[in-house]
Amino acid sequence: MSKVTVVGAGNVGATCANVLVTTQVADEVVLLDIKEGVSEGKAMDIMQTANILGLETRLYGVTNDYSKTEGSDVVVITSGIPRKPGMTREELIGVNAGIVKSVTENVLKHSPNAVIICVSNPMDTMTYLIHKTSGLPKNKIIGMGGALDSARFKYFLSQAIGCNAKEVEGIVIGGHGDTTMIPLTRFAAYRGLPASEFISEEKLAAVAADTMVGGATLTKLLGTSAWYAPGAAAAQVVGAVLGDQKKLISCSALLEGEYGESDLCIGVPCILGKNGIEKIVEFNLNEEEKALFHKSAEAVHKTNAALASAL
Ligand code: NAI
Ligand code: 2OP
Repeated sequence: MSKVTVVGAGNVGATCANVLVTTQVADEVVLLDIKEGVSEGKAMDIMQTANILGLETRLYGVTNDYSKTEGSDVVVITSGIPRKPGMTREELIGVNAGIVKSVTENVLKHSPNAVIICVSNPMDTMTYLIHKTSGLPKNKIIGMGGALDSARFKYFLSQAIGCNAKEVEGIVIGGHGDTTMIPLTRFAAYRGLPASEFISEEKLAAVAADTMVGGATLTKLLGTSAWYAPGAAAAQVVGAVLGDQKKLISCSALLEGEYGESDLCIGVPCILGKNGIEKIVEFNLNEEEKALFHKSAEAVHKTNAALASAL
């Protein structure tokens, strides 16, 4: 029997729970929030949909009762505040660091063997915080950002080529930030052929630029940050772990020399399976891509430095 806990029943957490139920990835899903009644209400609403669709996954909501999360295989942390128009993800650190730290402690009391997926922003720094405070082995802590950014990259790429989004490939590495993420345009492909065969270098650069501000664009349109793709991307990572899928997904992982960096969590291509991050895949980056990666790492280190005063 597989069990997943999603902490935070806000926009992203509830969407993640909804996708977990509709895709029947887990047998049991617990949705937990600090706000009285919210997770219970959202779980009930989702389960009434499950009834209509004839789905088997059981979902229930709890208000801050971690005993109900006992024995979870995977825990997704989405608790915290989202950004508002004009805000960066980094500005959320003060509030979210305290929340992520206490949530992780509570979760591990009841599910010491769980794989943790961190979604709360600034995600690379929150993932690093979990590494620093939880004592979990590094493979069991996954930051979700690259799965979302890569989905946005593939969306904009398919729009530019004028094709079905399922037929394009693309991956985004680096920090999960407007100026730190790196859409790897050189590796972007349509039906296995380089994307540059189908669109001009200028158009490809515009696709990368749209991807980088993808979150900000939605925040401006919606008045808060996006949730459908973020929730689905988190569920995709859960599915890769629970299903031992050995899928290559860009995730924020603790680096210990890979890509020439260490002592930070940042987006890199990872093979995900039942043990969490089973392997970090080192792409053969060219000099320009390497320079972008180091610049991105520098920015993430800088945000991490703010953790000391945030806790
Ligand atoms: P939201 O405000 O809709 O939901 C957050 C929920 O967390 C609220 O229901 C709140 O009551 C709950 N919460 C706060 N403190 C808690 C605690 N101590 N224990 C349990 N629950 C608690 O926000 P939304 O849109 O769901 O975003 C959640 C987080 O995810 C934000 O930090 C946002 O920036 C981040 N995010 C990250 C993405 C990524 O790709 N890594 C993408 C989208 C959002
Ligand atoms: C997003 O990328 C803000 O991290 C959030 O939508």
